[in-house]
Amino acid sequence: MAPRTTRPQSSARGHHQSASPVGTPTRGTTNPNRLRRMDRWIAATHGPALRRSPEPPLAVDLGYGAAPWTAVELLARLRTAEPRTRLYGIEIEPARVEAAKPYEHEGLSFVHGGFEVPVPGRVTLIRAANVLRQYDEEQVAAVWQRLCGRLAPGGLLVEGTCDEIGRRHVWVALDGSGPRTVTFATRLGSLERPSDLAERLPKALIHRNVPGEPVHAFLRDFDRAWAAAAPYASLGARQRWIRSVRDLAADWPLTDGPRRWRQGEVTVRWEALAPRG
Ligand SMILES: C[S@@+](CC[C@H](N)C(=O)[O-])C[C@H]1O[C@@H](n2cnc3c(N)ncnc32)[C@H](O)[C@@H]1O
Repeated sequence: MAPRTTRPQSSARGHHQSASPVGTPTRGTTNPNRLRRMDRWIAATHGPALRRSPEPPLAVDLGYGAAPWTAVELLARLRTAEPRTRLYGIEIEPARVEAAKPYEHEGLSFVHGGFEVPVPGRVTLIRAANVLRQYDEEQVAAVWQRLCGRLAPGGLLVEGTCDEIGRRHVWVALDGSGPRTVTFATRLGSLERPSDLAERLPKALIHRNVPGEPVHAFLRDFDRAWAAAAPYASLGARQRWIRSVRDLAADWPLTDGPRRWRQGEVTVRWEALAPRG
């Protein structure tokens, strides 16, 4: 059963020590390079916001897990976009913070905490990967709101899910005014059909992949476009994906273009996939 947050109603506090972090420890499964697709997308799409920050921009890897790899890697990839970037890894399980401490270096720190995000000031980026999947669907909106409340102006929250080795990803990107986009990202060689990604939908959408819900219609249309693009398979899975996404763009509000599609990605406006009711 999904864990309950310990203090779901209390407000965000911007300080270093968190006596009672908001949330509940869950399984710490992680893997090196697991979140590379998400990291690269963030660096590409959010790089300009990082560079605009008057102060060195602050990023958070929330719930980095049993080992600090994803935090170390996220900072390295963000620094390719903006070298001044600093990053806090935040974990609700104290032993995981202790295990990460030896990996601290200039601009990288690990702290004990939860959804209150106990770091000084407001942050330009919060990434929470494979964290909310272990909570209940009805907790998601409040957690999103709390996390978005910790963002600096122009800041971004990226919350999503992937498989163990990062071949299939789906994430939601939110700013201070709420959810903006949903991104599907995959290693194209591993894909039989786009709806393979359904099993990695973030918590807000995974229970909505049923007839009558927009995300179900989207994946159905994507599979149809993929089937129609079968002749392109002889040119490779990448060409087939790009052709399918072009077809999809006739009916769905996509926010990206061929440069991202080539990476095995597609991004859709949140409003088009938001759950009904
Ligand atoms: C499955 S691991 C994901 C690790 C890494 N983000 C990844 O994707 O590979 C989820 C981690 O989130 C942590 N976690 C759960 N709720 C949290 C919260 N409210 N605040 C901080 N960490 C949390 C758990 O303790 C666990 O270590």
